Formats: sequence, C-alpha cells, structure tokens
Amino acid sequence: MELSSQDWKILQQLRERFLCGTSVQAPYWRSRRELELYHATLGQRIAWKWRAVLAELVEIGWSLPAGALVDVGCGSGIATEMVLEQFGWHHLTEIVLVDISPLALAFAAERLQERFGTLPIRRTTAVEIPPHATVVISHTLTELPLDAFERLAEQVMVAEAIIVVEPGTSHASRRVVALRERGRQQFSIVAPCPHQERCGMLQPSNARHWCHFHVSPPAEAFTERQWARFADALGIDVGDLPVSFLVLDKQWEAASRGQTRLIGAPDSSPVDVVIVTCSQEGVRQQLVRKADNPALYRLLRKHPPRWIA
Ligand SMILES: C[S@@+](CC[C@H](N)C(=O)[O-])C[C@H]1O[C@@H](n2cnc3c(N)ncnc32)[C@H](O)[C@@H]1O
Repeated sequence: MELSSQDWKILQQLRERFLCGTSVQAPYWRSRRELELYHATLGQRIAWKWRAVLAELVEIGWSLPAGALVDVGCGSGIATEMVLEQFGWHHLTEIVLVDISPLALAFAAERLQERFGTLPIRRTTAVEIPPHATVVISHTLTELPLDAFERLAEQVMVAEAIIVVEPGTSHASRRVVALRERGRQQFSIVAPCPHQERCGMLQPSNARHWCHFHVSPPAEAFTERQWARFADALGIDVGDLPVSFLVLDKQWEAASRGQTRLIGAPDSSPVDVVIVTCSQEGVRQQLVRKADNPALYRLLRKHPPRWIA
C-alpha cells in the first residue's frame, strides 16, 4: 500500500492517541481511510501477535468452540480475521462485531465478508454475548473507563471461551490479570498460565513486574522496506512484539503442568541474566550466572524459551 505524507500524519496521530492510553468516551475513527491505514500497519502488527498466540493454542491442542464469535472493540476486525484464518469458520453460527464506532463496524464487516464470504455478520454498538459464544478482545481493554471495563468483565462471564490479546504494557497486563481473577472460578485457564490459582502478579512484592511476553514478527518485518519506513515514522521497534494475553475456556481440561514460564524478556549482562518466572509457587525474579549454568545462560541470551525446566 502506497502511503502519502498525509497518510503518515494520520498514522502518527493514531499512534499518539494509543500511546496516551486515555479511556475512550466516544467513537474516534474519523474516516474509512484511517481504518484502512490502521489495518495495513498497526493492525498488521496486532495480527502478528494474534498469529503467535493462536499458534500456541494449536500447539497445546485447543480449538475454537462451535457457536458465535463475538469481537468486542473490533476496530478493523483484525482479531476475528486471525481467528477465522487459524480455525476456520464453518462451525460458527455467526460473527458479532461490537464497537462504539459505526465506521469501524462497517469497515470490519465489509472486510470480513470480502474474505470469508458466506458468514452471517451482525454489528452492534452495545456488548451482546449469545450463549456458548467465544469472545475475542484485542487492544481494547485499556480504552475502557474502569466502570465499562468492570461491566464488560461481568458480561463476558457467560461466554464459553474468551481470548484476550493486549499490548504488553503494565496497564494492559493489570486489566488482563483482573479479568483472569474474575473468570478463574468459572473457566479453565488455557494459556498462558502454568496454574489456575490466584495470579502471582497480584502479590504486593511483585508490583514492579507485569505479565507480558515477547513474540517474534515474521521475516517481512525485517526485510520489507515499508516496515523500515513504518518504524522510522512511528518510532516503533517492529522487531519486538510485546503482548499480554489470556485464554479461558469452560470446557478445557486444565492440566496441572507443574511448569515454569518465562515472563517478559531476560535482562542479560556478560556475566549473568536476570529473569522473571511464573509457576504454581508464584512469580519470582531469578539470577542465572554464566559461571554456574553456562548452557541456560546461553539459551536465555540467544533463544529465550517459553518454559524453563
Ligand atoms: C485500538 S482499537 C483495537 C481494534 C481491534 N480490536 C484491533 O485489535 O486492531 C480499540 C477499539 O475499541 C473500540 N472501543 C473503545 N471503547 C469501546 C467501548 N466502550 N465499546 C466498544 N468498543 C469500544 C474503539 O472504537 C476501537 O475500534
């Protein structure tokens, strides 16, 4: 997609709005072009995060339940697009697009219809969760004022499954953790947690940590000129995709995995690496010295694994 200087200006303004992180009281999408630009750039980065999260779900054997798929704060519809791309849509009864912006609803519905054809798509500005629905929420939780967030957290409890993918910021993570706490008695936690207990991030001693991960973008992020231009114009590191996410499912058999998951990115020096880990025992900061464990030190520096033995 060729972008004019006016297009870059629009994207910079959008980026500033998202960075501000202020809660949204009214629709802010101003034109179809703005949604188109978002979808092709910022939205594609979000698509990369979704692909990584969905790939992990496939790896552990999770699949999308039959029923409706509800996309809350659908924007340009990228979350639904990724879920349908990964799991197909023939077993779904309908797609419900929810957004306060009628412009976004129209854009997302049109794109999804173009790509997936026969699917029945309903648009609404008020949250509606049909029985047995799967709810997807992407980069929307932090836009909600606290009361709207709490209302949504209550409403989604009737769902069969919930997939949340948010930016890997501490604010987003706190909302994801709050949703986890609200849901963990009724749902099994599919990912990313190694346990079903109270989240270790809620311990006051862990206040400086937040639940997030770094996933890798596809090769095109490093090879295609448009992404270098995007990185320069918007001041975004396209090589890094921080994400906070949560997948809940009422039918999932949560295995007690007894595993330890790496949180965030290791902080390494020539002699040691500091890591934050999460397990049934809680969230811990640990120091791995090169001299004590050279193999683990090297692994953490070069290819940080998802799970640590
Ligand atoms: C940053 S965009 C994310 C869009 C899309 N989910 C994605 O991941 O690309 C947030 C979306 O949430 C919508 N939104 C904000 N507050 C909302 C609310 N109270 N109810 C429904 N949608 C809302 C906005 O209009 C916007 O489309």
